[in-house]
Formats: sequence, C-alpha cells, structure tokens
Amino acid sequence: MWNKDSLKDLVQKKFSDYQFILVSNREPYMHIYRGGEVEVIMPASGMAIALDSLMQTTGGTWVAAGSGEADQEAVVGQDTIMVPPHNPKYKLRRLWLTREEENGYYYGFSNEALWPLCHVCYARPLFSPAHWEVYRQVNRKFADAILSEVRDRRTIVFIQDYHFALLPQMLKEADPRLIVCQFWHIPWPSFEVFRICPWGTEILEGLLGNDLLGFHLQYHCNNFFDTVERILEARVDYEKYAIFRQGKETRVRPFPISIDFERFENFAAAEDTQAQIAQLRHRFNLSGLKVGLGVDRLDYTKGIPERLEAVNIFFQKYPQYQGHFTFIQLGPVSRLNIPQYKQLNALVDSLEVEINSRYAYGRWKPVIVVKAHLSQEEIVPYYCLADVMVVSSLHDGMNLVAKEYVASRVNGDGALLLSPFTGAARELSWAYSINPFNPEEIADNLYKALEDSPEEKAVRMASMRHWVREHNIFFWAARILGDLITGVGQE
Ligand code: G6P
Repeated sequence: MWNKDSLKDLVQKKFSDYQFILVSNREPYMHIYRGGEVEVIMPASGMAIALDSLMQTTGGTWVAAGSGEADQEAVVGQDTIMVPPHNPKYKLRRLWLTREEENGYYYGFSNEALWPLCHVCYARPLFSPAHWEVYRQVNRKFADAILSEVRDRRTIVFIQDYHFALLPQMLKEADPRLIVCQFWHIPWPSFEVFRICPWGTEILEGLLGNDLLGFHLQYHCNNFFDTVERILEARVDYEKYAIFRQGKETRVRPFPISIDFERFENFAAAEDTQAQIAQLRHRFNLSGLKVGLGVDRLDYTKGIPERLEAVNIFFQKYPQYQGHFTFIQLGPVSRLNIPQYKQLNALVDSLEVEINSRYAYGRWKPVIVVKAHLSQEEIVPYYCLADVMVVSSLHDGMNLVAKEYVASRVNGDGALLLSPFTGAARELSWAYSINPFNPEEIADNLYKALEDSPEEKAVRMASMRHWVREHNIFFWAARILGDLITGVGQE
C-alpha cells in the first residue's frame, strides 16, 4: 500500500536528480486579514488540499496565483514563502495577476468558457475573444515564472487543470529538456461538445506539449483521443495510449485522483472531535435527530438545488421524518463575479427559506445552510455527525468530498448517496446511486439509506473505506511518477 514513506522512497531512488515544480491557479495556502491580524487558510479546493499532502512529501516548488488579500505581505525574496507556515516542507511561489488578468483568464476563459464546456450540465459557455487573449497572456506569464525557477536543473513540471491548456506547449518550446506533465481535473467532453469552442485547435496543440497528460477516467481519455483525431492531424496509438504529432509523443492515461486517507482518519479520531460533534448538535438543535449532509463549493455543477428539492420531496413523502431529520448544506460561496454563480447563491437561499417555512416548527429546522468557509479540520466533525452524505453533482471529474466522507467514518457507519455522473462513482460502487436530475430518486434513496439495517450500511462502508485507503493520493502520485519514469527512460 502506498503511503508518505514509500512515495518519499520512490522520489529519492528514481528522481533525486530532478527538481519538482507543481503549477496550479489556486494556491494551497492563502493569507487573509481577520480582525486586523494576518491569518493563513487553505482554500475550498479538494484539488489544492490533496496536492498539498503530496508536496509535503516530495518537496519542491509550487507556483500559483496569489489570491489572499494579505498574500503580498507574507512573501519574501522572489515572491516566495515556505509552507506549511508552521512546519515548512516546500516552497510556494506566488504570481500576481492584475484585476484585468483575473477577469479575463480566471473568471472569463477558465470559468465562463472551459468550465461549462467540459461539464456537460447545460450551462452555455461564453466565448469571448478578449478573455481568450488574456488567458493566453496569463499562460505566458506562468511560463516565464516557471522558466525562471528552472535555472538549468533537470526539472519535472507538473501542471494542474484547465487554467493552463496553453502552458505545456509554451514550456516545451522554450526548453525541450523539461519533462512536462499535466493533470486535467475536470471531465473532457465528447467531440460533439468540444467542437463549438472557437479556439479548440490551439487548446489541443497546447495540451500536446505535455509528455504525459492525465484524466480521471479512461472515458475522458477516449473523448480526448477522439477530439484530437477529428480536429488535428495527429496519430492516435490506441495500443500505447499515446498521441504522435510532428515527431512528438504525448502519453494520455487515466489516474483517478484521491485524498490523504490518513489525514482525514486522524482528524476524525482526534481527541476533541467528539466534543466538536456535541457542540454542533447543540448549536443546530440536532439532539436525537438523524442528520444528512452536503459539502460543496456553491457551484452549479454540484446539483445543490436538485438536492434541496429532494429534501423537500423527502419530507412530503415520508412525513414521519418531520422533526426527526435535518439536512445541513455546507456551501462556501465561489466565483461570485460570474452571473450563474450569483443566481445559484440566491436560489439556494430561497430554497432554504421555502423549505423551512413549509415544515419547520419549534426549535426544529429541516434545512440549515452554512456558507462560511471552513477548514478541513472544521469540516470533519460534520462528516462524523452525518448519518447520510449526499453528493449529487450533475457532472464532476472526480468529487473528493465523497472520498473524504468515507475516510472520516472511522466507526464504519454512515451512508453515501452518490451521483453516477461523478468520477468517484466508478470507484465507489458500494454507494447508494442517485440520479441528480431526478430529485424523487434522491428522496427515496435518502429514505432507504436511513431505514436500511446498520449491518447493510456497514458492509457498504467497509468496502468503500478499504478501497479509498488503498487508492489514496500517494498511490495516485506513484502511478503518475511510474509513468514518468518510463518516459524519462526513453529520453
Ligand atoms: C475544481 C477545480 C480546481 C479548483 C477548485 C476550486 O475542483 O478542478 O482547479 O481549484 O474547483 O475552484 P476555484 O476556482 O475556487 O479554485
């Protein structure tokens, strides 16, 4: 089984000559002001949190956009800071984006064009030439920052996500000796969907700058192969799972990402967790009640209104649960500059009010929405408290929340309702499957999960815990590194 130590061993044995540079838009640590003091928080991004565990093990440099209001105050020298702040293990290099760059590259092309394009949940992508131009410029800006970190050392650059479709090609053109690998954390759509993007060719050319390109699922790899074959003059080799173009090879493989299982297990088993659970029960009047939970950034891909509608149907159809069940939705606000996110935010508020005004009485509330940004340690007591966890994404590359819940159920109880349109569903086949486009099905499964025997639920949970424990973030990284070794051997 892969763990921190075995991964460290692999890195020392096979990659001691290389420096690692990880690149993502979202940084793992943000400095913010709270009550006049500077505080460090981790963002609401399962991706950033999982990769932080990895970087703490391998060491190296993480290049990301500075996004905390106190970030500039915290850096030293060349815009860098060692992190985690209280036990430094790797270097974080921050890059500063202007407001115009943030609007065009982050809100604009990344999140108004690529995000809806790749998540097929019927939000129309916005393709603006001005956003595209800024996206290109910001990819170039990241390329320059990365190249300035390389300094003639043998380097592996590990790029994260859809914010950087053009970066691999830019890096390879500037320095062909770099080993460039990218992981695309969101789905890759079918050719029929992708072909509407006016800059599809440039995006594919950019991504083929990678030596290795990873998706969560074979299904996404197949969509990518098909898209490349139909848009570019390139040869797809289905035996090698590689694409050949202009003498260059890009290997394309599925690597389903995961979490640091132990980190969640340790939080859940920590001494004060029981006290925190008791506090939550007290604060939300949950004494003697069954509890359902949703944990998501407020994003339209996550199926949150559908889930709340399901809770509404649940109370209608199973009135015996009125007064005996509360659904808590943790939902930090996200990407609020984008109209669809603003609308979702308002819709969630109004659904909360509507359901509560229909059923609430005395101290009991059917639905509680908590929008505050909580740390991982603060979320784990909610996972431990929840009899049922609902993950109802309309489409999701992986969904790490499902795995976090499973890892936190140290007593082996609890139940997971999981949308089949998440990557996680391919692995966690023991979950209760729910179609988020059919809230009645969610409501019925909520009822089933609450009524099923503890033995039945324990069997499902044990299988899921066994799977996630083994297929953890270190296993994920080891598989990617294993693939890179093959590539390095061929250089
Ligand atoms: C998804 C993306 C990540 C991103 C996260 C949070 O999981 O794949 O790249 O960091 O959402 O979104 P944000 O825009 O706040 O970074």
